[in-house]
Amino acid sequence: MLKGKKIVLGITGSIAAYKAAYLIRALIKKGAEVQVVITPAGKEFITPTTLSALTNKPVVSHFFSTDDGSWHSHVDLGLWADCMVVAPATAASIGKMAHGIADNMLITTYLAMKAPVFIAPAMDADMYAHPSTQRNLELLKSYGNHIIEPATGFLASTLEGKGRMEEPDEIVRQLELFFSETPFSKKKILITVGPTYEKLDPVRFLGNHSSGKMGFALAKACVMRGASVILIAGPVAMHYSHPLIERIDVESAEEMYDAAVSRFPETAVAILCAAVADFRPAQVATEKIKRDGDRPLNIELVANPDIAAALGRQKRSDQLLVGFALETDHAEANAQEKLRKKNLDLIVLNSLKDEGAGFKTDTNKITLIAASGEKKEFPLKSKQEVANDIIEEIGKRI
Ligand code: PMT
Repeated sequence: MLKGKKIVLGITGSIAAYKAAYLIRALIKKGAEVQVVITPAGKEFITPTTLSALTNKPVVSHFFSTDDGSWHSHVDLGLWADCMVVAPATAASIGKMAHGIADNMLITTYLAMKAPVFIAPAMDADMYAHPSTQRNLELLKSYGNHIIEPATGFLASTLEGKGRMEEPDEIVRQLELFFSETPFSKKKILITVGPTYEKLDPVRFLGNHSSGKMGFALAKACVMRGASVILIAGPVAMHYSHPLIERIDVESAEEMYDAAVSRFPETAVAILCAAVADFRPAQVATEKIKRDGDRPLNIELVANPDIAAALGRQKRSDQLLVGFALETDHAEANAQEKLRKKNLDLIVLNSLKDEGAGFKTDTNKITLIAASGEKKEFPLKSKQEVANDIIEEIGKRI
């Protein structure tokens, strides 16, 4: 898949620059041709001699060659490459790339690049978490660049591990996925994610603990394989923008239902990961409900529409419908029942009885059950790995 691919590898001034040597070796082993462009700070961490020995090409770092004054053309590199990978990418270089500050050969090459660009951030956790770095990464994504970072990067709830550069083998794997024809290439996938909020009065709502992590990891797994995603998101604090993701923000189950039912026909697969409220208050008070001493308050609830069941009725034979089951008791029997009642092709069972599974955690433990009767149990893994497992199983069925 990477055989014969021409890759410009941009290296910036991070301690992780040594990993660029492993990355070059792995790329060359796959048959790629690698041209290194390095910043002045990058050379403080790894020598051009090492890099040119590995790539079999002179390293480009200046606008002009110091030997004979000949011009290194960033424009030619932009036309030559099948892709550019910036690894490691420091906060400073990310900022310059986001704002077009073309004061070195690497940034001018980036600005002239005609091919897809992959950026692997590398910095300490505090620098990574700083709003300016996060804003710059968002800008780079909005320009259509691909950010490659460990699953802990955007899913983790703690700072630990954030900002660490993705391992070279994983970068190679993601490039291979990008260049390969997968069952997902050019397919459209609908994903519901997060909780729904059901209004009680102008200040209160009924909701649940879904953070959106599982659903966002699924969206990432889909776009990494070339699918485009319609991400229907309940109220979540998560962000993951990507040129292949169309995000529709909704609040209530009814809004999520309307969006899902109207967009389902144009998709090949729907994955219903949202924790949809099954009930909503029968009346939404126009003013804040006041307490009346110690008197109990009774709220009448009415059933919300079942999105999964509606899509199950609407489903064509060329569409695949995947649901989740979040259980606390009789997990497998309940999941089987939901699979059948909602006319799903596949159900992802996760149980709140399993430590590290379910809401908010960075991990999950799942069992996949297919309508055909097939069943597959997986150990506890990061939500990104779980998402990859689910997407691989879906890939076998489309
Ligand atoms: O977001 P995180 O914090 O990462 O947590 C992930 C998760 C625990 C929310 C996720 O892994 C999960 O289990 N999602 C489904 C939660 C749920 O509501 O399950 P359920 O068993 O109640 O619903 C069964 C299926 O029907 C689900 O696919 C659900 O999206 C769907 N449903 C339910 C009710 C409804 N009115 N409409 C629906 O479409």
